[in-house]
Amino acid sequence: MSASKPLPGSRPRLLNVGRIAPALLARLAQDYELTDLAGERDLAARLQGDAASFRALVTSAPVGVDAAMMAALPGLQVISSFGVGLDRIDLAAARERGIQVGYTPHVLDDCVADTAMGLVIDAARGLSAADRYVRAGRWPGGPFATMRKVSGARMGIVGMGRIGQQIAARAEGFRMEVRYHARQPVSRLPQAHEPSLHALARWADFLVLALPGGAATRHIVDAAVLDALGPEGFLVNIARGSVVDEDALVEALAEGRIAGAGLDVYQNEPRVPERLLQLDNVVLLPHVGSNTRETRAAMADLVVDNLRAFFERGQPVCSAEPPTL
Ligand code: DGY
Repeated sequence: MSASKPLPGSRPRLLNVGRIAPALLARLAQDYELTDLAGERDLAARLQGDAASFRALVTSAPVGVDAAMMAALPGLQVISSFGVGLDRIDLAAARERGIQVGYTPHVLDDCVADTAMGLVIDAARGLSAADRYVRAGRWPGGPFATMRKVSGARMGIVGMGRIGQQIAARAEGFRMEVRYHARQPVSRLPQAHEPSLHALARWADFLVLALPGGAATRHIVDAAVLDALGPEGFLVNIARGSVVDEDALVEALAEGRIAGAGLDVYQNEPRVPERLLQLDNVVLLPHVGSNTRETRAAMADLVVDNLRAFFERGQPVCSAEPPTL
């Protein structure tokens, strides 16, 4: 959809609270009367008597919108979120208030799935650790440790939505055997559904988490699941930090109860537990799953298109549904 045509009627007031690029802010400012309060701690004080005139709000997945913020914006009609994660948007409160919620699925599936495969390979083959080894001048002292083969191994995927399916497609290129855990089997998928997460963890060499965050999935990967994965198994998380009991993961990595991990997400981002930083059997990324120029541009387009579709036709292009595992 082109965003160049002016919106019908007067420019709606739009509040941004999300972490979004200046270029997207500039685009929004062309069509809306924009107020940018990203990073503002005391929103209520900053808005003062002004709040009722905002009809639209832009946020980003890690920032979200809670019920209190919606209540503070009584004229709010539409939320457009930069990101696929809905765990920080109170969808029930939005529904109750008749607020439409748009988000940016589909366009980031490739990059997040690519990141998952990168973490699988890095965790197993020790690419980041080997890079540190070379830079530290340790190679002349002896060869790097012999690591674990990825091609042909068993991958268990937890959460088989769009991103999980893209990870499975990539794993098949590595001749991996793939099974998945989800509350319900996904129809028309060639991979086997495993109703028990523990059984999937016991079976898998690589357990890859691609499920939504939120209360329903909090700490779904706990010490028992990690022990089922076992000392030869690797955990990869590109979903949300909340789905893993991080203390249990640190213990399991430190004690060698799992072989290693690749993490893009953490419980209290951007803080990464000090003990994880000390471990060599974990690859740590700063939540960059979708962070390529191409994908971020496509996400920005969808943020704009969701708003425009709402103001022109009453509904965002991609409307948020409560997620399922
Ligand atoms: C998303 O889109 O939800 C990514 O994880 C960024 O937060």
